[in-house]
Amino acid sequence: MNYPRKVKLVDVGPRDGLQNEKQPVPADVKIRLVQMLQDAGLREIEVTSFVSPKWVPQMADAAEVMAGIERRPGVRYSVLTPNIKGFESAVESRPDEIVVFGAASEAFSQKNINCSIAESIERFAPVVEAARAKGIPVRGAISTTVGCPYEGEIAPSRVEMVARLMKEIGVQHVGVCDTVGVGTPRKVQAAMEAALKHYSIDDVSGHFHDTYAQALPNTLASLQMGVWQFDSSVAGLGGCPYAKGATGNVATEDVVYMLHGMGIETGIDLDKLVDAGNYISEFLGRKSQSRAATAILNKRAG
Ligand code: HMG
Ligand code: MG
Repeated sequence: MNYPRKVKLVDVGPRDGLQNEKQPVPADVKIRLVQMLQDAGLREIEVTSFVSPKWVPQMADAAEVMAGIERRPGVRYSVLTPNIKGFESAVESRPDEIVVFGAASEAFSQKNINCSIAESIERFAPVVEAARAKGIPVRGAISTTVGCPYEGEIAPSRVEMVARLMKEIGVQHVGVCDTVGVGTPRKVQAAMEAALKHYSIDDVSGHFHDTYAQALPNTLASLQMGVWQFDSSVAGLGGCPYAKGATGNVATEDVVYMLHGMGIETGIDLDKLVDAGNYISEFLGRKSQSRAATAILNKRAG
C-alpha cells in the first residue's frame, strides 16, 4: 500500500468542537486552546465561524477570538463564512483561509444554512470572488456526503454535483464531510472519488465525525487513495447543532497516534496535543473522547 509520507491535519476543535457546546465557553478559553494547539505543532487551525449568533450562539465571539489569538508565523488560521455578511466581518480579522459550507443533501442545506443547494452556491459565489480578489484561499466543506440525518443515504452523484458547482465558482479545495459519522470505508471512498472528479488529490480532504466509530477506518481508507489532508478535533470534540445525534470529529490525538505508528509525519507533538485536549476537557467537565489521549493520561498517572 502506498501511503502518503506526510499528512496535514487541520484541527477544527475550536470551531466544530465548541460550536455545539450548550455552556458558554469564554473567548479566553478558546484563545488558550488555539495557543495550546499551535504549541503542539498544529499548523492549521479552524478557529471560529462568522455565522448568525441566533443560529449558533457559541460562535458569537468570533471577532474577539480572532483578535485575541497569538499569530504564529507558519500557522494558518481559518474561519467559516456562510455568506457575504459573514465574509465582510471575517475579513477584518485577517483569516488565512475562509470556508464556505454547503451540503450534498437538500434537507441538510435547508436546516443548516436556511437555503437550497442551488441558493447556497449563489450566496457563496460573491464570497469566493471577494476572498480571491483579496488573495484569501477558499475551502469548501461538503456536508452529508454519505448520509444525512433527514434524507438517509446520499448517492456519490450528489457529492459529484456539489463538487462541480463549487469548482465552477472558484472554490480551491473541498472537504468531503461525513457530518453524521454514518459512513464506512467503501462509501467514504466512493464520496472521495466523486469529489476527485473535479478536484486533484492535493485539493481534497476528509472530515469525519465519529458517531459510529468509523472515523479512523474512514481516514485509513482515504489515505489508501492518496488523500493526505484531514480535519480532526482535539479530544474528539464536535458536532453540528443541525445534525442531531452526531457526535464529535475524529480525535486529533487518535489520528496522530495512528499516523505516527505508520511512520507518517504530521509535525505534531502528541504529548503536547494530549495536554491541549486535557485542558479543554477539564474546562468542559467531561472526559476526552480520544482513546489515545485517555491511554496516555492513564499511563502518566500510573
Ligand atoms: P438566514 O436567517 O436565512 O439569514 O440565515 P438572513 O440573511 O435572512 O439574515 C437573518 C439575520 O441573521 C439577520 O439579522 C442578519 O443580519 C443575520 P436580524 O436582521 O434578524 O437581526 N446574519 C448574520 N449575522 C452574523 N453573521 C452572519 C450573518 N448572516 C446573516 N454571517 C445563515 C442564514 C447562513 C446566516 C444562518 O443559517 C446561519 O448562520 N447558519 C450557520 C449554521 C452553522 O453555523 N452550522 C454549523 C457549521 S457547519 C458544520 O458544522 C458542518 C461542518 O463541520 C462539516 C460537516 O461536519 O459536515 C463544516
Ligand atoms: Mg463537522
